[in-house]
Amino acid sequence: MSHFRPVKLEHASRLINHGPTVLVTSAHEGRRNVMAAAWSMPVEFTPPRIAVVIDKRTYTRELAAASGTFGIIVPGAAMIDLTYAVGTSSGREIDKFDAFGIETVKGPVLGLPLIETNCSAWLECRLIDEKHTEDAYDTCFAEVVAAAADARVFVDGHWTVDESNQPLHTIHHLGAGKFVRASSMQLAKPLAR
Ligand SMILES: Cc1cc2nc3c(=O)[nH]c(=O)nc-3n(C[C@H](O)[C@H](O)[C@H](O)COP(=O)(O)O)c2cc1C
Repeated sequence: MSHFRPVKLEHASRLINHGPTVLVTSAHEGRRNVMAAAWSMPVEFTPPRIAVVIDKRTYTRELAAASGTFGIIVPGAAMIDLTYAVGTSSGREIDKFDAFGIETVKGPVLGLPLIETNCSAWLECRLIDEKHTEDAYDTCFAEVVAAAADARVFVDGHWTVDESNQPLHTIHHLGAGKFVRASSMQLAKPLAR
């Protein structure tokens, strides 16, 4: 049973606001792929827009450019090994979904391959035509057209991390295959002035 529930588009930015390492999925004419990306961020609330660095040498970039779409998946801590594996191999050589036994679900709007098992959220994105930033900085801008999150960790537009949902805590790459988990939540208190 899927625990994923739709996320309002005005709340989509919150899914990557805190800088988790994400997976980028792509598909075009029967080909499909998934890679890791540490460099992504929201850039606009409404309409929801994001930016992600996708190196021009990657297979992902080729498929995203050809289809004009890509998916963003927020992997949970249970996905650390898989995240590193898809970030250190190329879809030009293997079908990473088959090779690593990754199950997909079909995106509701763009039909992209998305991942829910051991993941906390996904976003379906339509590429915005920004040739200059793509060519010069490998930075791809996109509009989010659908989003969903696992209700055990993202409820009513907000993340809630605690001991009960540890496998879904977001992961953050330190480099060289080392990750930290976002596992300790602290609410800022107003300071007396
Ligand atoms: C944790 C991690 C984070 C990464 N972040 C990015 C990133 O933000 N942008 C990027 O272009 N590549 C990034 N990479 C590298 C790609 O995932 C890697 O080049 C991948 O093999 C590309 O796969 P593809 O050719 O199948 O698209 C990252 C790799 C790892 C392991």
